Amino acid sequence: MRKCPELILAPMEGVGDRTFRKAMASVGGFDEAVMDFLSVPKNAHVPSLAKKYESDELLPIPIAAQLMGSDPNLMAAMAKEMEKRGAKRVDLNCGCPSNTVTGNGSGSSLLKNPNLLHTIAKAMVDAVNVPVTVKMRSGYEDTSLFEENLKAAESSGIKFLTLHPRTKIDGYGPPAKWEYIAKAKEILKIPVVGNGDILTVSDALNMLKQTNCDALMIGRGSVANPFIFHEIKAHFSNTLFQPSLEALLRYIDVFVSNLPEDMQSRGRINKMKQLFGFIFTSKNSLKELRKEMLTFSPSTLDSFLGFAIPLLKKGWVNESQAT
Ligand SMILES: Cc1cc2nc3c(=O)[nH]c(=O)nc-3n(C[C@H](O)[C@H](O)[C@H](O)COP(=O)(O)O)c2cc1C
Repeated sequence: MRKCPELILAPMEGVGDRTFRKAMASVGGFDEAVMDFLSVPKNAHVPSLAKKYESDELLPIPIAAQLMGSDPNLMAAMAKEMEKRGAKRVDLNCGCPSNTVTGNGSGSSLLKNPNLLHTIAKAMVDAVNVPVTVKMRSGYEDTSLFEENLKAAESSGIKFLTLHPRTKIDGYGPPAKWEYIAKAKEILKIPVVGNGDILTVSDALNMLKQTNCDALMIGRGSVANPFIFHEIKAHFSNTLFQPSLEALLRYIDVFVSNLPEDMQSRGRINKMKQLFGFIFTSKNSLKELRKEMLTFSPSTLDSFLGFAIPLLKKGWVNESQAT
């Protein structure tokens, strides 16, 4: 059996923030995380923007910095600043579909312009000694420039490429087309990290088998099930990993204790609802209770947790009894 590939926690702006990453790090199982993108607008003041990145956030787990922008000089300067701040890897975002982002010509817009994608990636590669990488979608409106974009990225000197095989137009809707990861493996010499729709250990194994990718990146699957990385690792070491309700409750505790101190009560409730919204998709018996959890409208975080945690326990126990 092959050894467990490297497992990477995906960047997820708005969901996978510091609070989430800290809680995930308390569970562990992944080899590296990627911070959600730092947007580098044309008027960016590089040193102050760079302060948002902390390389020791998850120690001993490394966290890569991800940059999004379209000005090669600024992106190079920012990459340098990330390296100075201890980043062991700097990633170029070529995937974000948001209109505010693509309107600035960055994120997935770079997929319409392979020359610019190449120029930015090369400027970053030339600016730093640490590995520069690219994370991209399979295309903007369609996949007509797929191969050209892959080659533009590779010829810039990047160390590896992560592929989320949906176009910008796809958003997060239709299933990821893993065959594009397999194609990327055929086209590129550098390693390819496969990403998209890994929710279970079998998904991870299927992606590896179907695409021959070198490593796996998981986003939403880890928000629903924070133990997914351990489950995958256990498979490769031929051991059993059974996530317990107690471990899940400990994870939730760490999550709550890492909510930003200056976050208002409503923000805290919404953040926890968002997390529970994902967790309640991870088992059938929890799915049945999801609506009840989401429609509960509490006035404080404590009252939300006082309602949602017993519901979580109920769904968890029902599932255990059903299996
Ligand atoms: C809420 C959200 C925010 C995201 N933010 C980023 C981001 O900051 N940078 C990035 O490269 N990808 C971002 N993504 C894309 C994910 O990293 C990943 O490519 C995508 O969700 C597919 O993987 P998954 O099915 O494992 O979630 C985001 C996805 C979601 C759902």
